[in-house]
Amino acid sequence: MFKKSSNTSITRGNNMFKKLVTSLLATSLLALGLIGCAPNAAQPNAPAPAETPAKGGETAQKDFVGVSMPTQSLQRWNQDGTNMKAILEGQGYLVDLQYANNDVNTQVQQLENMITKGCKVLVIAAIDGSAITDVLAKAAQNNVQVIAYDRLIMQSPNVSYYATFDNFKVGVIQGQYIEEKLGLKEGKGPFNLEVFGGSPDDNNATFFYNGAMSILKPYIESGKLVVPSGQTDFTTVAIQGWDSAKAQARMDTLVTANYAKGQKLDVVLSPNDSLAIGIVSSLKNAGYGSADKPYPIITGQDCDKPNVIAMINDQQSMSIFKDTRTLASKVAEMVDALLQGKEATVNDTTTYDNGAKVVPSFLCDPVYADKNNYKEILIDSGYYTEDDLK
Ligand code: BGC
Repeated sequence: MFKKSSNTSITRGNNMFKKLVTSLLATSLLALGLIGCAPNAAQPNAPAPAETPAKGGETAQKDFVGVSMPTQSLQRWNQDGTNMKAILEGQGYLVDLQYANNDVNTQVQQLENMITKGCKVLVIAAIDGSAITDVLAKAAQNNVQVIAYDRLIMQSPNVSYYATFDNFKVGVIQGQYIEEKLGLKEGKGPFNLEVFGGSPDDNNATFFYNGAMSILKPYIESGKLVVPSGQTDFTTVAIQGWDSAKAQARMDTLVTANYAKGQKLDVVLSPNDSLAIGIVSSLKNAGYGSADKPYPIITGQDCDKPNVIAMINDQQSMSIFKDTRTLASKVAEMVDALLQGKEATVNDTTTYDNGAKVVPSFLCDPVYADKNNYKEILIDSGYYTEDDLK
């Protein structure tokens, strides 16, 4: 899926070497009873990495990598964290994986601890992209390098790379799905639409919104899509913290104000799955889900398990699939490159300007899953088993 680079074979060779060294070290450490102190989420104050004897009397030190994820409340971040930890450990690194409960101060504190513990690279999915400038300055003073994971880190020069899925394209695919399912290109309509946006402190949210609106706006302007609430601009439709309950509350208000007298709601643009969960709950309470009042088309993103189940049950229509395994392996390649003083492969050097610099980025390709193709996309690829979706 990724563009091959001339670095790839070198990186693999190094990885194999690292794996060999790691397993030899692990065996001798086990024998000495020294292993078992690698930090994880349950051991926030784990000690600094141990120096371990290497061949020829030298001292080899496993590099420590900090992985800072926003929350465990959305399944995708659990998968991102678990994948990153497994891949990096497979490459011979020690990993400090932390989740910050969607709380900015917690994330800042966790990052400070990672720097103090001697992490050489920080992989960060920021809660508020603009709120970690100071701690990143501290990282730079300590020669700690930073990779922005999935979400761009704003207003800081101290970000080496950014790896994500093509966020604008995510929105475009959602918009095109709506366009196709409603037959807008064929001139069908008018249809009633309501629009939701993601968290305003997440740089991705405007990319998703702009991507979707690049498809939908012409139909709004021509009157083929009508927005009865009149609410379409990003600041009005954005849901702080990607919060399901807030999305549910906003949908409740929209239903009461605009759809209480039998008006039909045909489609809801939801940027992700946590919002879709709240939107579906609201509509369920309002009596949607029967033969004469089916759910509208509802979009989503992440293919979280409850949402895939909702797709199978005709509550949610689609969800963008961003294979977290792909992203994690790309970021692990970047970590390797940084620690070996090499350049990582990127495929975008213009789009992601964080206000302090344009961050060299690697954009992975998103696709969508719905009731018709989810088996092929999610099960055949080994992402989920049939049982996961029961
Ligand atoms: C991610 C989405 C996720 C959202 C809420 C965004 O930055 O790209 O995949 O649904 O955050 O956690």
